Amino acid sequence: MKANEKIVKLSASMMCADLANLEVECLRLETAGIDRLHFDIMDGKFVDNIELGFSLIKRLKEISNLAFECHLMVLDPQRFIDILLESEVEYISIHFESVNETEYLLQKIRSNNSKAGIAVNPETDVDNIFPLLPNIDQILFMTVSPGFSGQPFKNEVLEKIKALKGIIEINKYNIEIETDGNMSDITIPKVVTNGADAIVLGSSSLFNRNNKSYGYKAIVKEIKRWTRSQ
Ligand code: DX5
Ligand code: ZN
Repeated sequence: MKANEKIVKLSASMMCADLANLEVECLRLETAGIDRLHFDIMDGKFVDNIELGFSLIKRLKEISNLAFECHLMVLDPQRFIDILLESEVEYISIHFESVNETEYLLQKIRSNNSKAGIAVNPETDVDNIFPLLPNIDQILFMTVSPGFSGQPFKNEVLEKIKALKGIIEINKYNIEIETDGNMSDITIPKVVTNGADAIVLGSSSLFNRNNKSYGYKAIVKEIKRWTRSQ
């Protein structure tokens, strides 16, 4: 590794994992060098899909040493913050597009020692996020239309990442930028060049390529190379 080289954090999107073998999946991902587990929580209203529930997350938290990242794709996140905080998950992100009580929720997450994130849909104007920056630890940029895996990457998000990165640096905010959706050999170098510090790995890079001859360890090694090949 070169001096001053940025180490990009890797988060595995568990809705894309083998749902019939989740304990084994968590342990294999940890051994392979994944940093965090990413849980998409969908209510069938904010997006047209229903995914991972709270009792599943609570149980997996008991068996995994990795940091848990919960991405609330729900209309009313206020209803679900307490139950997630009870499971002591390390990161909770709420969608900018979902609520009005955003600042109160972000403070509540932080005062319970979890990191507070704002998730941003591809079409959202990032100027609207600026007032929230002093209250957050993470911005989760959706680089696809949210709700399903296997969606096309939206190149227009790249300039939003770059703009936000500039504001974060000028103001010396301690905020991580993470990107979520269609992270691949093509898109990872693009998001990292524009300022991503962490990436969510789903079907495009990690899970659909896992088979008997090519396990998570080899894939993670290759993905780490893509994060450096800008
Ligand atoms: C999309 C989800 C992502 C997704 C990423 O709404 O938030 O976590 O599963 O996976 P791929 O690589 O399939 O886009
Ligand atoms: Zn997500």
